Amino acid sequence: MSRNNQARDILTRSGIMPVVTVASAEQGVAIARALLAGGLTAIEVTLRSAAALDAVRAIKQATPQLLVGVGTVCNAGQVRAAEAAGADFLVSPGTTPALAEALLASTLPSIPGAATPSEIMALLEHGFECVKLFPAAALGGITRIKALAGPFPNLRLCPTGGIGENDAAQYLAQPNVLCVGGSWMVASEWIKAGDFAAVTASAAKARALIDRLRG
Ligand code: 3PG
Repeated sequence: MSRNNQARDILTRSGIMPVVTVASAEQGVAIARALLAGGLTAIEVTLRSAAALDAVRAIKQATPQLLVGVGTVCNAGQVRAAEAAGADFLVSPGTTPALAEALLASTLPSIPGAATPSEIMALLEHGFECVKLFPAAALGGITRIKALAGPFPNLRLCPTGGIGENDAAQYLAQPNVLCVGGSWMVASEWIKAGDFAAVTASAAKARALIDRLRG
């Protein structure tokens, strides 16, 4: 399967992508177990904490059935570090020309970030058809997603940023949206309080939503 199709497959199968920033590898494993218990099948661990890559390794070991992406990938060094940690896929908030080259050179499927038509066109030129639209809500949300469908019929999106439990369904109902990303299933107050049952409950609601919309 081409990496483009792999990316498409990951997003389609996931439906909702929990975006997680971890304080430690142990915390990452607890979150991953809680998400899996709720029925979600993928997780994006952001490179926004020192523990991120250790957490990716630990999550891969503890919950091998979960697809583990590395997010907030901004440069070639981070692409290589994510590969070395055993990531299943890569996600970026935006895409510089150097990052696009590094993602193309990687063996891993990736979901590169874009916000504007020109950025999307640059990604399509590189052959990336599955794109993270970020920050989705601030960019105009559903209105923008509908507007992008006309000029870019092959583009498939994973809108992320500012999306919550209450509007995820509206995003998922768009034909050019494969998956919705967000951190609402891993609210920082739950994580701080060690309330992983709340994470599982939220993940289960997300699972039910995907099943209802996607059958
Ligand atoms: C991301 O990195 O994709 C975002 O931080 C997730 O956005 P959210 O926290 O607004 O859901």
